[in-house]
Amino acid sequence: TGLVTLDNGFGNTAAYKSAITFVDGENGILRYRGYPIEQLAEQGSFIETAYLLINGELPTADQLSEFSNEITQHTLLHEDVKRFYQGFPRDAHPMAMLSSVVSALSTFYQDSHNPFDPEQRHLSTVRLLAKLPTIAAYAYKKSVGHPFVYPRNDLGYVENFLRMTFAVPAADYELNPVVVNALDKLLILHADHEQNCSTSTVRLVGSSQANQFASISAGISALWGPLHGGANQAVLEMLEKIKNDGGDVDTFIRKVKNREDGVKLMGFGHRVYKSFDPRAQIIKGAAHDVLSQLGKADELLDIALKLEEHALSDDFFVERKLYPNVDFYTGLIYRAMGFPTSMFTVLFALGRLPGWIAHWHEMIKDPGSRIGRPRQIYTGTEIRDYVALGDR
Ligand code: CMC
Repeated sequence: TGLVTLDNGFGNTAAYKSAITFVDGENGILRYRGYPIEQLAEQGSFIETAYLLINGELPTADQLSEFSNEITQHTLLHEDVKRFYQGFPRDAHPMAMLSSVVSALSTFYQDSHNPFDPEQRHLSTVRLLAKLPTIAAYAYKKSVGHPFVYPRNDLGYVENFLRMTFAVPAADYELNPVVVNALDKLLILHADHEQNCSTSTVRLVGSSQANQFASISAGISALWGPLHGGANQAVLEMLEKIKNDGGDVDTFIRKVKNREDGVKLMGFGHRVYKSFDPRAQIIKGAAHDVLSQLGKADELLDIALKLEEHALSDDFFVERKLYPNVDFYTGLIYRAMGFPTSMFTVLFALGRLPGWIAHWHEMIKDPGSRIGRPRQIYTGTEIRDYVALGDR
């Protein structure tokens, strides 16, 4: 094992070559297939961003409408899939339902099991993109005890998801364009981020030639943790706790610096970004706009702004190059849109799905790709002899 070197948390080791997303952490740059994130968020749509990530180029008008139509045809869940929700406890976390149901899709679509058939690969991708919003909306409906709302194929991707989530039978549901546009933009900002924990997980599972549903389900599980996508939920819980404790930001920052009870400033810090996270900058502006347009002044936004201001002028955070990341302000927007805290990470998953899919395809199509299999440095005991049970 002389050649094996330890790289804690893969801080320096590139496991793959990839042509999908470029991140420059020193300068706060993020590009999908060469396009700056700022331009895509400002001018693009989520569905064309998904097409771009997966296919490498922005779609023409015809390609985009074909792609959208294809997705639209697969939004329904098999009635037997719906029964899964009856089996979950009412207080089940939506992320657990999401990964379980996505994993179960490979029992319904066994044609997905051969990842080397291009047609089946494409069909599984369309199914995933089409069904994840339905699966997510049903997880929400289960948690509030409301009946499921079927997808409506005349609506756009985000509109359809919002309606399935928030519409209730026997009441009108009006889509709010402010919410639709903001959610579309947030999904674009989350769509890919090269070899983050969940994407690397998708690649690692997929490298054994497991099918797309199995690989993506593993990615959803990886995303759930509070150091990754679960941070958006953790940020809101942190802000609420500070508010309930009297709104004293200084005391909280002191706790973080003293590492009391392992408290971290959630939504701060990033493995790669060491000057700023370009997504967080866009989202901070959006949080302000959306909250004021929806007329939902939020005391928690003031606490978040104060926390950011204090942290950015404090040596502890400056020395460690800790800045707000993508998750710091998103929860405030989701909350203003009416989502409960437990759904925040689900929204991240909806956004990240095209990135996971793009990486899965890139890996499967690469003739040089090998099974992912990290090495280790063994720290256990030396050889010793077996002792019979009666002699221990
Ligand atoms: N609050 C307080 N201290 C922190 C924080 C934080 N949020 N983040 C890092 N540090 C400290 C850390 O304790 C270490 O200090 P020291 O050198 O004295 O031991 C130093 O900064 C370097 O941190 P690290 O843990 O080595 O950094 P990492 O690259 O392993 O971890 C991270 C990156 C994002 C997991 C971490 O910054 C973190 O836990 N942040 C809070 C959770 C969070 O917001 N996650 C969302 C990440 S962004 C998008 C996503 O994936 O969802």
